[in-house]
Amino acid sequence: MDETLEVLASLSEELPRLSPKYFYDSRGSELFEEITVLPEYYLTRSEAEIFDRHLDDIAQALGSGDIIIEPGSGNCSKVRPLLKRAAPSAYIPIDIAGEFLWAAAANTALEHPNLGVTAIAADFTQSWTFLEEIPKGRRIVFYPGSTLGNFDPSAQQDFIRQLAQVVGTQGGILLGVDLHKDSATLQRAYDDAAGVTAAFNRNMLAVVNARTGANFELKEWRHQARYNSEMRRIEMELVAQSTQTVTIGDQTLKFSEGAIIRTEHSHKFTMASIQDLAAAAAMTVTHHWLDSNARFCLALLQNA
Ligand code: SAH
Ligand code: AVI
Repeated sequence: MDETLEVLASLSEELPRLSPKYFYDSRGSELFEEITVLPEYYLTRSEAEIFDRHLDDIAQALGSGDIIIEPGSGNCSKVRPLLKRAAPSAYIPIDIAGEFLWAAAANTALEHPNLGVTAIAADFTQSWTFLEEIPKGRRIVFYPGSTLGNFDPSAQQDFIRQLAQVVGTQGGILLGVDLHKDSATLQRAYDDAAGVTAAFNRNMLAVVNARTGANFELKEWRHQARYNSEMRRIEMELVAQSTQTVTIGDQTLKFSEGAIIRTEHSHKFTMASIQDLAAAAAMTVTHHWLDSNARFCLALLQNA
């Protein structure tokens, strides 16, 4: 769908919302990189610790000579230990933020001169026609960072099913997800003291302005993040600080003071919910690894 129509449709819902894919232009990708090193945002460090502690085991479980496909690869830093230790023949990063992706993929190719790197700038929620460009061989989809949690549960299942098809019967999905935990730790991770997550959240309006010609006033929107423990998800929102009139395409939308736009769900997982997801794609969790504080889980899903 045309992005202007898509934005208008989602902002006109009963609870106005914007897709999290609009976080990621180059600035949004840089802000996300800043988030990953914040003291409150434990996710990236916890996942890195899993690789530090269990790399041999992970590499052995994966086997060698694979093609690694990474949807939402960002700065391509998570894959580094795998590229070193599992020595795949090809690496295919896929990301919607094209310029940021090209730079990250070029660095990866320089670091690994014998690795075939094919970067694909695409929306991974659309059809994966680009798979035809991928070399033949056993495929591992590496999907770290709990990016799966930004889908709602039924879309998570659909996406894992799609990945299962991509890897076929011989391949696997190496999935990194954040685990359910106390609300205070989670809320801090999404509402940091330095205000980087707030800037990341507001940057979405700059992206929407650039892509649709809308005229959102960024400074008039306040960041808000709460953990909904019943739904096991962070709900991130922008709250209008005064009445806002926004023009998008040929329409004008009015937001009263206090009006909310939901910008992201970040679902948290349990071992049971990870197993359910695997089962929905006729796969099983053949291996899993946790960090020392059991905050984050890396799971290998293979054909049942
Ligand atoms: N995997 C990295 C980055 C996670 S941030 C890590 O774990 O640190 C999420 C990444 O997914 C961003 O780089 C963003 O640009 C990308 N992304 C988000 N929605 C996307 C979509 N619909 N299609 C393709 N890439 C997407
Ligand atoms: C990319 N994604 C998994 C991040 C998350 O934790 O849901 C995006 C993010 N949003 C706020 N902080 C980080």
